[in-house]
Amino acid sequence: MNGLSTRQTVGTNLGFVTLVSVVAAIGGLLFGYDTAVISGAIVFMQQKFHLGPGMQGWAVSCLMIGAIVGAGCAGVLSDRFGRKKMLIIAGILFAIGSIGSAVPPTISQFVIARIIGGVGIGISSTLVPLYIAEIAPAKHRGSLVSLNQLAVVIGISAIYFVNMWVANMGSLAWDISSAWRWMFGLGVVPGCVFIFLLVFVPESPRWLEKQGMGDKALRVLARINGTDRAEAELSEIRETLQNESENLGLLFRPGFRIALVVGIVLAILQQVTGINAIMYYAPEIFKHTGAGTNASLIETVITGADNLVFTLVSLWLIDRVGRKVLLLIGSAVMTVSLAVVGYAFHTGQTAGYLVLVFILLFVAAFAVSFGPIVWLVMAEIFPTRIRGRATAIASVALWAADYAVSQSFPVLLNSVGVASTFWTFGILSLVAFVFTMALVPETKGKSLEEIERSWGRGNLRTPAK
Ligand code: BGC
Repeated sequence: MNGLSTRQTVGTNLGFVTLVSVVAAIGGLLFGYDTAVISGAIVFMQQKFHLGPGMQGWAVSCLMIGAIVGAGCAGVLSDRFGRKKMLIIAGILFAIGSIGSAVPPTISQFVIARIIGGVGIGISSTLVPLYIAEIAPAKHRGSLVSLNQLAVVIGISAIYFVNMWVANMGSLAWDISSAWRWMFGLGVVPGCVFIFLLVFVPESPRWLEKQGMGDKALRVLARINGTDRAEAELSEIRETLQNESENLGLLFRPGFRIALVVGIVLAILQQVTGINAIMYYAPEIFKHTGAGTNASLIETVITGADNLVFTLVSLWLIDRVGRKVLLLIGSAVMTVSLAVVGYAFHTGQTAGYLVLVFILLFVAAFAVSFGPIVWLVMAEIFPTRIRGRATAIASVALWAADYAVSQSFPVLLNSVGVASTFWTFGILSLVAFVFTMALVPETKGKSLEEIERSWGRGNLRTPAK
């Protein structure tokens, strides 16, 4: 993939861009793997280390503390050292975290290793969508960036199976002493694949131009779009960069201030509408409906498959229908589904399939809308010179909201109850609908430079070309 030449290529080289995007999206796979692996390991770790509820919660959520730190650093470091280098560093941290979580004799050492892995996840979750957005042609940017979300979901589903497979390999005593170590340790395999393949992908052309490496930027653009279009694109990027300041204060100018609000609020809404209450605690929720352990695990696997199928649907729709319409439909369906789930628990009608059906509907609606689109919008709405730092601010907000929801969900279940908890998520989904309607612009089909100019003009609702 490296060693690019300016040889004439006609039209978009979609194969090349897709290949590069798939490599970057392995970062999403690590994200899914690492956030979900704990679900299978924690039962055994609890017995091994005699963990009380507090320590158990900490063992689950310390990863997110690392991710907040990683997302926070990702911006400054990637604006300075480049997207590619920082992705490689994220892969290395992930690999260290995997091995480190597999071998520790004490829970404190485990927590340190998880935090290190979490830093890698925070960096890659921020930079993968951003990197793909910066290399992708406008027409296919939505689907290409959303490959990252597809990889997250594949990572989550894959680890459910890995966990089940490893746990079935030995006796309970072996599970408690060793199975959970394998669950974490096996993460080193995708981690190393990620690091190796990243060596071959090109640096982001927009970042190269910003660093004054116009020749290299042109070569990458030519490889993606053909030589003729590359020249035109490079001058568009140049012109936009010339009018931009390097200062983060740019974000507080009237035009861009709204971009910052959209990025941060969407990031928070993605989490506080409750997806990870379901992703991390699904078996627990299904048990509340009276399902046995086996049935609830099967229902959890069905939920994962549902997430995967509808993420694929989203990939197909995102550049055709547009981001805003999908966000609106998604949040409307999420609101209704959560209201029904709350109602079922409130009235005690949990014996049949009502809860399962509406949870599946909620997950499907999320997978089509807030799952992929929030990461996409965060990567495409900010000005190029400060894109890394601005995306990172939104990403920190997302991870902090994830931490808050996953910490408080079990507490909410025991205090206000299941129905009120789901109704709260439902009300927040309604807020997501109203917020999208009022403030989220449609970015379908626009180049990053066009998006940037439309903020500057305060012209948020310019129809896509
Ligand atoms: C979210 C994750 C979530 C996943 C579920 C992602 O977009 O950021 O927190 O676990 O979707 O599919």
